[in-house]
Amino acid sequence: MSGVLITGATSGIGKQLAQDYARQGWQVIACGRNGDVLNELQNKHASITPLQFDLTDFEHTLVMLRELPFTPSLWILNAGSCEYIDDGVMDTKLMARVMQINVIGMTNAIEAIQPHLQSGHRVALVGSIASELALPRAEAYGASKAAVGYLARALRLAWTSKGIEVTCIFPGFVATPLTDKNTFDMPMMISVERASQSIRKGLEKGVANLYFPTRFTWIIRLLGMLPYGWQYRLMSRFFAPKRTKS
Ligand SMILES: NC(=O)c1ccc[n+]([C@@H]2O[C@H](COP(=O)([O-])OP(=O)(O)OC[C@H]3O[C@@H](n4cnc5c(N)ncnc54)[C@H](OP(=O)(O)O)[C@@H]3O)[C@@H](O)[C@H]2O)c1
Repeated sequence: MSGVLITGATSGIGKQLAQDYARQGWQVIACGRNGDVLNELQNKHASITPLQFDLTDFEHTLVMLRELPFTPSLWILNAGSCEYIDDGVMDTKLMARVMQINVIGMTNAIEAIQPHLQSGHRVALVGSIASELALPRAEAYGASKAAVGYLARALRLAWTSKGIEVTCIFPGFVATPLTDKNTFDMPMMISVERASQSIRKGLEKGVANLYFPTRFTWIIRLLGMLPYGWQYRLMSRFFAPKRTKS
C-alpha cells in the first residue's frame, strides 16, 4: 500500500489531497495545527493518521516527524499562508510571518523528514505561480514562493544522485480559505477538487514542475519570460497607481 505525508492537511488543497488519497486506498499522515479538523479527518478515514504541530516550531517539528507510523514514499509539503503588503509600505513583521511559514516552515519539514528519505521517494514542494511574475501587493508572498521554487530546483540537483525526486507545484488561483479572503478578481480560479486532481495526476506521472490550471499558468509564465523592463511596462499599465504631483 502506498503512503503519503501531507503538511497543511487541515484546510484547502491539503485537506482535499488527504481525503482523495485516503479514498484511493493510500495510507495518509495528515499534518496541521487544527486539532478539530485533524480529528474529523481521522474519524472519516481510518487510513488517515493525524499529526498536530506548528511547522514554524523547529524542535517540535523534529520531534513529531522523528517516529512515523509508516514510511511514506510521497511527501507533499503544502502548508503555507498569504498576507499582502499594501501600497508598497514595507511591514517587516508581516514579511517575517509569511517567510516563517512558507520558507522556514518548509525547511523545518525538509530537515525533519530527511532521515526517512530513500531512493525512489518523491518530495513535492507547493510554491505558487505568483513566484513567476512580480504582482502588486505580493512583495512578501511572491518572494516567499520564489524562495520555494529556488529551493526545489537546488534540492533536485543535490538529490538526483540519491534517487530522491523533487517536484515543485505552481498552482494558479484555487478556491480555498486562503483565497476566500481576497477581494480582487482571481481569473480562471479552479475548485479545490480540480487542484487535487491535477496534483495527484502530475505526481503520479513524476512531473518535476507542475503548473495548473494550464491556460492561466501559461499566460503568467509567458509574461514572466519577458525581459524585466517589458514586464514592468506591461504590469504597470494595469496595476501601478498614477503618480501624484506634489
Ligand atoms: N489557494 C490558492 O489559490 C493557492 C495558489 C497558489 C499556491 N497556493 C499554496 O498552496 C498551499 C495551500 O494553500 P491553501 O489555499 O490550501 O490554503 P489554506 O486553506 O489556508 O491552508 C493552509 C494550510 O497550511 C497550514 N498551516 C499554516 N500555517 C501553519 C503552521 N505554522 N504550521 C503548520 N501548518 C500550517 C494550515 O493548517 P493549520 O491552520 O491547521 O495549521 C492549513 O492546513 C499554500 O502553500 C499556498 O501558498 C495556494
